[in-house]
Amino acid sequence: LAAGPLAGCRVTITAGPTREPIDPVRVLSNRSSGRMGFAVAEAARAAGARVTLITGPVALPTPAGVERVDVETAAEMHAAVLARLASTDLFIGVAAVADYRPAEVMVHKLKKGAETLELRLTRTPDILAEVSAHRPRPFCVGFAAETESVVEHARAKLVAKQLDLIAANRVGDGLGLEVEDNALDVLWDGGQCRLERGPKTELARHLIQLIAKRYALARGA
Ligand code: C5P
Repeated sequence: LAAGPLAGCRVTITAGPTREPIDPVRVLSNRSSGRMGFAVAEAARAAGARVTLITGPVALPTPAGVERVDVETAAEMHAAVLARLASTDLFIGVAAVADYRPAEVMVHKLKKGAETLELRLTRTPDILAEVSAHRPRPFCVGFAAETESVVEHARAKLVAKQLDLIAANRVGDGLGLEVEDNALDVLWDGGQCRLERGPKTELARHLIQLIAKRYALARGA
């Protein structure tokens, strides 16, 4: 049996981008590589957790001992997360879920013609906010990728989505979405901690230690 600060804890993690179809060949997506989410999954596993990793399309190998569920769209990721909610003690939303999807998916490939073209978009479900609002509720951790006022925006999200903890990272300056390195500001109600620039694998291990500590406190251990 696994030992470690998250021994016996059932962790569900989302990772990567989502891909929202426009027509049979085109999609709306983002630059998330999935590296941070996969590193968090590996670190949670190493901390003794039973990990399910629900991921959008990425080019990464599955960490050893981790159950992987592949999805494509925000709607599919939403369904996969809800299906596991009853068996999730700790939810970590690392995925860069598309906030909008095309309102209509065209049945046939869109033909080129007009000089300009408008695409009507519609909101996708906020998976993390929904998990956090659910009762009974797992311990909820979010990520916030920001380009400015990182800590302020992250604290606002912590409150808005009623999270237990949020990890904020600055996107740009060689940090963030498509690169190996990151730097995180980790915030919770009544505290915060800065994880200095480093490889995502190392940051993930520190983050999991912090999460495990807050999780134990929340459970009254
Ligand atoms: O509000 P914002 O999208 O910046 O919040 C980011 C956090 O919310 C991340 O943890 C992300 O995984 C999660 N999220 C989600 N579903 C969405 C949008 C964001 O789970 N539709």
